[in-house]
Amino acid sequence: MEIKFHPQGANMSLQRLMVYLSTTCMFCYMIGINLIILIMQYISPSLTKKIILKMGEKTTMTQNPNFKYEDWGQTFGSVNFFKTVSQHLWLSLGQEAFLGGDAPDTPVVNMEGKNTNTRPLEFKQLVKDFSDVADFLVIYIAEAHSTDGWAFTNNFDINQHQSLEDRLSAAQILVQKEPQCPVVVDEMNNVSAIKYGALPERLYVLQAGKVVYKGGMGPMGYHPMEVRLLLEKMK
Ligand SMILES: *[C@@H]1O[C@H](CO)[C@@H](O)[C@H](O)[C@H]1NC(C)=O
Repeated sequence: MEIKFHPQGANMSLQRLMVYLSTTCMFCYMIGINLIILIMQYISPSLTKKIILKMGEKTTMTQNPNFKYEDWGQTFGSVNFFKTVSQHLWLSLGQEAFLGGDAPDTPVVNMEGKNTNTRPLEFKQLVKDFSDVADFLVIYIAEAHSTDGWAFTNNFDINQHQSLEDRLSAAQILVQKEPQCPVVVDEMNNVSAIKYGALPERLYVLQAGKVVYKGGMGPMGYHPMEVRLLLEKMK
């Protein structure tokens, strides 16, 4: 028998349910990891380091030439690690961007500090390989590794943005890296980060106002290669 599964509403509720379930699992996982690391540190610091390095391989932290283990490895098990991850998980419950569903048209702020929307943006430059099939946009959101939060040493010195000015000036660092596409920032109520479940980072492909690709939650689920494969099909 053929199973029909097109009522969009049902599919969206299922995706929402999956968000709740996976967030609950990730929260428990995070508590577990925290506890294990805290206890392990007493028993065997060297084994703890090995485990953390193993996790760092998955999140590609170990492949990042800008950071040594000492910069990030010792932040696990800290209160700020716990606080930051909990906050991201909590906010991820507010996501409204689901595969096949309407793409939330959240307001953002352009680099001149003016409110704008993501869609009517005049795209200055399109990202090289796929400029013929897609417009690219970077929305800079809350800092995952702020100096006053879950900080890595040797990183950019950015505190949690207290104002739009803070956020815009932090985004300038990103603009200086010449991302080859427009950069906008989330509003201070973090509406884009919340509706797109974007903390700490996430990739999407939108088409005609619909979500056609929803990447996993970063850093584990952040795979630009998946976007590349999808866009190659659209060429
Ligand atoms: C939005 O994020 C900023 C950090 O960039 C934080 O200071 C602020 O409290 C957040 N706002 C809300 C409404 O959660």
